[in-house]
Amino acid sequence: MTSQHEFPRNGPKAETRRRTLSIVQEHTRFWHNGHLTCDWMELCGKGDETLRMLLDADALQPGCGRYLGVNMEEAVLDHNRKEFVPQTEAGLVQWVLGDLCTLLSDLDAFPNTGIIVFDSFNSASKVNLDVILDTILGFAKSQQRKLGQALVVLNLALRGNMVHGREAGKRRLQEYLRERLGVEVSQEQFHDYRSKKVEMRMCWIGLGF
Ligand SMILES: C[S@@+](CC[C@H](N)C(=O)[O-])C[C@H]1O[C@@H](n2cnc3c(N)ncnc32)[C@H](O)[C@@H]1O
Repeated sequence: MTSQHEFPRNGPKAETRRRTLSIVQEHTRFWHNGHLTCDWMELCGKGDETLRMLLDADALQPGCGRYLGVNMEEAVLDHNRKEFVPQTEAGLVQWVLGDLCTLLSDLDAFPNTGIIVFDSFNSASKVNLDVILDTILGFAKSQQRKLGQALVVLNLALRGNMVHGREAGKRRLQEYLRERLGVEVSQEQFHDYRSKKVEMRMCWIGLGF
């Protein structure tokens, strides 16, 4: 079948995927003997490039950390099941249907997940963003208690709206994180880049490291 890749394999987006992998490799306990030891959960794309990167790095081994690709559209998961047949059958990857926040509101549902990548086009100015981030950080803190560490990666659009303009959205995100984490998030933890459609802001949050 023809591969169909929704999000770029190269360029600024690919660099953000590689940065996440190198943080895992260099700063977390989730990398041992060249392999991932915890599950890596991410909102996946059709023809998922993060999984492709992990496979190229030989990061996934049977019985070790898996890739959990989440999407609320069955068609995206079906496409990926067909594109990654051997890896899916070998249990290196699991395709999970549902809304990420609903899934993560069950703190016991994904016991080996240490990396959560909220790679979405949600806006940093979105009115109910706090509700979404509270669920993700709540799950990550619970995983930190179980696994010793957790890594949360946020990818948000810098798109203003009637309530919060673009710059207000950036400030709001920073204030939100300072309040919930109890520390200032440093400028090095943020990274802005331009996707095909819009300016994006990444943030890497290490819990326990
Ligand atoms: C930006 S793409 C993921 C790209 C991929 N991580 C990559 O590196 O190429 C986000 C996908 O997640 C879906 N999505 C967005 N919010 C979601 C949510 N809360 N729960 C489940 N799926 C979601 C979108 O429909 C879209 O298919």
